[in-house]
Amino acid sequence: MSNLLINGGNKIVGSITAHGAKNSALPLLAATLLCGGQSVLHNCPDLSDVDAAMKILSYLGARCKREGSSVIVDSSNIQKNEIPDELMREMRSSIVFLGAIIGRTGGAVVSSPGGCELGPRPIDLHISSLKQMGVVITEDYGYLRCEAPFGLKGADITLQFPSVGATENIILASVLAKGETIIRNAAKEPEIIDLADFLIGCGAKIRGAGNDTIHINGVNWLGTTEHYVIPDRIEAATFLAAAAATKGKIEVKGVRPEHMRSILSVFKESGCQVTCKKDSIYLENNHELRGVPMIKTLVYPGFPTDAGPPILTMLALAKTPTLFIENIFENRFRYIDELKRLGAKIRTHGNVALIDSAQKFTGANTSATDLRGGAALVVAALAAEGQTKIDNIYHIDRGYEKIERCFEILGADIKRI
Ligand code: UD1
Repeated sequence: MSNLLINGGNKIVGSITAHGAKNSALPLLAATLLCGGQSVLHNCPDLSDVDAAMKILSYLGARCKREGSSVIVDSSNIQKNEIPDELMREMRSSIVFLGAIIGRTGGAVVSSPGGCELGPRPIDLHISSLKQMGVVITEDYGYLRCEAPFGLKGADITLQFPSVGATENIILASVLAKGETIIRNAAKEPEIIDLADFLIGCGAKIRGAGNDTIHINGVNWLGTTEHYVIPDRIEAATFLAAAAATKGKIEVKGVRPEHMRSILSVFKESGCQVTCKKDSIYLENNHELRGVPMIKTLVYPGFPTDAGPPILTMLALAKTPTLFIENIFENRFRYIDELKRLGAKIRTHGNVALIDSAQKFTGANTSATDLRGGAALVVAALAAEGQTKIDNIYHIDRGYEKIERCFEILGADIKRI
């Protein structure tokens, strides 16, 4: 089991290019199942979650290989429609394969994803939407058996909450369904637009991705395409938070600043200088940070829950307090106990965290509790005095490609041991 060893105190300075977005790559890999040939995803991050998705594709009969930052999937020959429990468990986002497998084969058997480190992870919206499209779903012995006896048919679906995963699953199930599907109160995240763009490139008929209402007209067959995965706005936010926390300066290249408006406004409010070009962000911080009176996580275009942990950590060093309200996941604050080992003064009550001002971090032995919480510990360790050891970094590897290499390039004293 490896750990990260970080000697804090170095300023994060320099230039780095963001990798492709994990949260786009996973549904895109699922989408390749719908294509009757070879699809290519460029800028596909090299992450353990992406490896897990590739294992699922291979298990189902697709031929899958990585060439540098591109992943090539040939799904001409899909033989199975069942994902075994051990593969489902490797990645909690594997539920996004459900819509694609049913779309391709007319049925699917997957184990129920159950809870995860962020709390219970219900899939009621996925299930009820698929049922509206003609899928009969039975649950036995922890497995969901799904079958569309009369084929998938379009439906007019209103989501009670604009779930990212449910919106993706409905899109994946509907592109080859009979007739029109309408998704109302759909998620508007950039990853939804990326998925639609890939599918449109393959011949799907989708209108309105990125808006509240998405229309999908089923087609009989999808071809293939080459697609560039959008940049990872959360990875970019983590680099920016580390630079701000260490009074450094950074240029993050290969990003889409328009995807990060709510994040960038927090950096600006905390006193950082932020300059955006079309595909890069420059951030510099020479002063004590200011706290932000209130940050609330919201669905896009609001402040993303995934950017909360690294940015909350940065704000723990500010000269005035911050009130942080988490509205998306109930167990998001587990990493805060680990941050306290470095000296953070943060009080939590339910979904609210009050971050006291003028803190200093001191190196400590810590353990990543989840993906973004692990990234928060890296940010804290980089800004801390002394040495920090972070274990359970497999959580971090799910969503950050070679994090130690990235921060080493930016001047950090960081090693994987
Ligand atoms: C995706 C992202 C995750 C991000 C989240 C919110 C991927 C692989 N993961 O997760 O990193 O934090 O969006 O931006 O893209 N919910 C239900 N019933 C459902 C589905 C969801 O109650 O059927 C609830 C969830 O418990 C949660 C909220 O809705 O409280 C948001 O979930 P959702 O938008 O579905 O997130 P994911 O797609 O799981």
